[in-house]
Amino acid sequence: MRMVDLIEKKRDGKELTTEEIQFIIEGYTNNSIPDYQMSAMTMAIYFQGMNERERAELTMAMVNSGDTIDLSAIDGVKVDKHSTGGVGDTTTLVLGPLVAALGVPVAKMSGRGLGHTGGTIDKLEAVKGFHVEIENDEFIRLVNENKIAVIGQSGNLTPADKKLYALRDVTGTVNSIPLIASSIMSKKIAAGADAICLDVKTGAGAFMKTLDDSRELAKAMVSIGNNVGRKTMAVISDMSQPLGFAIGNALEVKEAIDTLRGDGPEDLTELCLTLGSHMVYLAGQAATLDEARNKLNEVISNGKALETFKVFLQSQGGDPGVVDDPAKLPQAKYIIELEATEDGYISEIVADEIGTAAMMLGAGRATKESIIDLAVGIVLKKKIGDQVKKGESLLTIHSNREQIEEVKQILYKNIKISKEKVPAPILVHEEITH
Ligand code: URA
Ligand code: CA
Repeated sequence: MRMVDLIEKKRDGKELTTEEIQFIIEGYTNNSIPDYQMSAMTMAIYFQGMNERERAELTMAMVNSGDTIDLSAIDGVKVDKHSTGGVGDTTTLVLGPLVAALGVPVAKMSGRGLGHTGGTIDKLEAVKGFHVEIENDEFIRLVNENKIAVIGQSGNLTPADKKLYALRDVTGTVNSIPLIASSIMSKKIAAGADAICLDVKTGAGAFMKTLDDSRELAKAMVSIGNNVGRKTMAVISDMSQPLGFAIGNALEVKEAIDTLRGDGPEDLTELCLTLGSHMVYLAGQAATLDEARNKLNEVISNGKALETFKVFLQSQGGDPGVVDDPAKLPQAKYIIELEATEDGYISEIVADEIGTAAMMLGAGRATKESIIDLAVGIVLKKKIGDQVKKGESLLTIHSNREQIEEVKQILYKNIKISKEKVPAPILVHEEITH
């Protein structure tokens, strides 16, 4: 087989066979196919697309390019949840203990990564003592015992995707549905998920800005998962404004605790109940979505969800005392109110720009080397549709620097107030199961 023939084939809009897809991924992983040929191939895929079979086979070829995690020693159906990324998305912190409280095993492998705030691990490390450096057998023991544990990314998972994603990043080929869908799904499958629950964000703060694009990505991922024997579903949820109130690491841990107690922001709570219902249902712990939702509400009101969070923190060295006393979390030196400059209704809170403001305070990493300040961030007081009076607080800025004029300017510019009443955005647009 010659790569050049395969490039021409895809360029001309033809289907690649199973063997050809394997040849490409194996060759690119072992460096026998050079970047320049792979660049041409990704551009051909960008323009010509891939059908369902090709997408599933590309995904599995990437899964097989490296190690895969074997979670078979964990009892029950391992349902993984993945979000395509948003601003102040606190769902993972809430969903883990929430579904674990119902006996759904949560074996989470997580990373740090770049972004407006840290990843799940960074956020959890805001709890004093909490660590994810545990051995694999300890990880498995903890999930069997407590139904939840988090471990740092280890091993050589999907090396093909790592190389390919970096190449796409510099060749204008990130934005291709088959390439994005196979990239995300390969990582979930390699990490050992039996079933996958996807939260595809849509809106200004999301990777996919329009509902049509988000739906196409969601459907592509759901079809890949189901075609390779992993029950997969997707929710399309709003990311025009940040989710919940808190954007920042310790601040989001506190928000997760509030939500697990039943006192969380309405949108975050609702999204967690929606995603959680699907996870519980996929795990076979409820016969219907309604039954799953009732059970979730029950563990919130009877305190079991919060108790599961405490046990989880303690089992990985964290101080469970933060749950009853969130003041034990890292606190910023300055808490500054941002006051509304006019009367009206909040019409826009541009999610990605608010995220940038949080990152400028130090909540996230701009480069791999950046050090995160776990205490800092933003807590919204108002969301889209809320009425506001001049002088009222729009949000609080938690900062370790006193001088934050630049941050304030970004926030003012990206929180818009209109004279007319504005409806709150739709939170869950669609639930896609096939
Ligand atoms: N996230 C991924 O993991 N892969 C992509 O291709 C795009 C977003
Ligand atoms: Ca939040």
